[in-house]
Order: sequence, then C-alpha cells, then structure tokens
Amino acid sequence: MPRSLCQITDFTAAEVNQVFDLCRDMKTGKISPKPLLGKSVACIFTKESLRTRISFEVGISELGGSPIYVTGPEIKLGQRETVADAAQVLSRYVGLIMIRTFDQSDVVELAEHATVPIVNGLTDLVHPCQILGDYFTITEHLKPKDRYVVAYLGDGNNITNSWLNLASLIPIEFRIGTAEDCHPDPEIVKKGQANPDSKIVITADPDEAADGADVLYTDVWASMGQKGMAEEKAAKLAKFQINSKILNRADKGAIVMHCLPAERGREITDEVIDGPQSVVFDEAENRLHIQKAIMAFLLEKS
Ligand code: CP
Ligand code: NVA
Repeated sequence: MPRSLCQITDFTAAEVNQVFDLCRDMKTGKISPKPLLGKSVACIFTKESLRTRISFEVGISELGGSPIYVTGPEIKLGQRETVADAAQVLSRYVGLIMIRTFDQSDVVELAEHATVPIVNGLTDLVHPCQILGDYFTITEHLKPKDRYVVAYLGDGNNITNSWLNLASLIPIEFRIGTAEDCHPDPEIVKKGQANPDSKIVITADPDEAADGADVLYTDVWASMGQKGMAEEKAAKLAKFQINSKILNRADKGAIVMHCLPAERGREITDEVIDGPQSVVFDEAENRLHIQKAIMAFLLEKS
C-alpha cells in the first residue's frame, strides 16, 4: 500500500522531521525535485478553499505535475459510486490524490483502496498540512527550544486536533483555552497526553492558557459546515478572543498565528492580526512549501 497522509500520526516523529528538512531545502532552493514530472494530481474539494487549492495547484506544478481540480458535486464521492471504486479508478489516471471533505472516514477509505498516495487537505476531524506548515513556521521565527509552549484559544476543532496529533509525536506544551462543550476530540486528546515529552492542558481560563506562551494560536469559532452555529459559538467563545490584552500575557517574543481565513473582530482583533507579532501570512506561504515536501516524501516512500 502506498504511503498517505490522512492525519499527522500516519508519520513517525523521525518522518515529521524529515519532512521539515525537505521543506527547508526546497524553500531555500537547495533542491528542486520533480517527482510529479509527467503525472497529474486529482485535487478533490467538497468544501471551499483559497489557500489549500492554490498552494496545492502551484506546488504540484512546481514538482513537475499537473493538477486537476474537481468539486464534490461533480464526483459525488460515496454516492455515485463507492469511495473504494473511485479510489481505484482515480489511481489509474493520477499519481497522487489530494482531498478536502467532511468525513475523515472517506479520506481513510480512499487511502485504503488507492494505489497512489492520498493527502488530506482538511476534514471535520483534522487539517494535517496546516499544522505541519505551522510548526515549520514556528521554527523559522523562534529560537530552537526543547518544547515550545503553544496556546490555542477558541473552538476545539480540526486545527486543535491536528496540534494534538503533532504533540503526540514531538515535544510540545499544548494549552487549549476553550469552553466546556467546545473541547477537541477526546481520543485525539488521549493520544497527545500519551506522549511523556509533551504536556497537554485544557482550561476554561484564557489567561492560564496564554501565560508566558511562545505562540498564541486561534481559528474561526465556527468551521466550514458549522456556520449555522456561528452565533451560539460566539457567545460561548467570546472570552477566548486573541486581543492586545491576552497577547500581553504571552512571552514578550511570542508570535501570533491563525490558519486563516479569519473572522476579524471575532476570534482575533485587527490590531493583533495586523500587529508586529503576527506571522499569519508566513503561515499561509509555508502551506506551499510544506505540501511540496509532503508530496515529495510520500511519492518517494510509495
Ligand atoms: N487555511 C486553509 O486551509 O485555508 P483555505 O480554507 O482557504 O484552504
Ligand atoms: N477550522 C476551520 C479551518 C479552516 C482552514 C474550518 O474547518 O473551517
């Protein structure tokens, strides 16, 4: 079976570090492999996107390949035919499949039946490319440290789950400041807690989460597919907004991160997202570099 990235824990800690090394070498231009030369890549989107679509399409071209963009309503994955049949058909045409969809189980099923690598471009459960790129961004901005303190304030969602997955592999003190009924996936929390080199804190006190942190991170309070719950979530999560007051509790050299798109004035203020500690556009840029590294890594191992 080829190697896929359905979630970060499909990699070992050593492999995550290899992907970061590859990313650095590709970003600096030290190497420019073309593992997709002469191949096409199916990019399936059943949810909207700006960063993921464009960074994958550009990255695929830079690796020598040709992207094919296809939307959910066209292929009706799991409805027009089984996910397993679609996986086998697509594998006859393309060298890799990238998918953004709702159910993690669809991504896993694709990976089980495809004969080419699958890359998860976001599900309701996880967003692995985002968090691998974000950790790479942290290493570019902050001095090396045995264990960064990352304070995530807001909804316990696919971004939070992916941070927990990364913390299950590499040492991170990951503090989640969130409301009682907005916690991340309990099974993934357990995986994070199982790494003795990491520390996972879940608190309803935003100050406790942010105190002395190296990174303040947030994301929209209502994810794609949940926009109908926006007001309900906003009421629960208002005190977890990243603003100047909470930023003052973090380390003075702290960086501010957001996967984007942001709902300015809700989970983060203009003053902070546009301020000198914000690295949100570096994060967005690094999606391109990390995804090229992920694709090159998976193709080499498959
Ligand atoms: N961060 C991110 O995945 O952005 P898009 O939803 O625009 O792809
Ligand atoms: N949690 C957000 C992330 C967007 C990149 C969502 O799923 O909509």
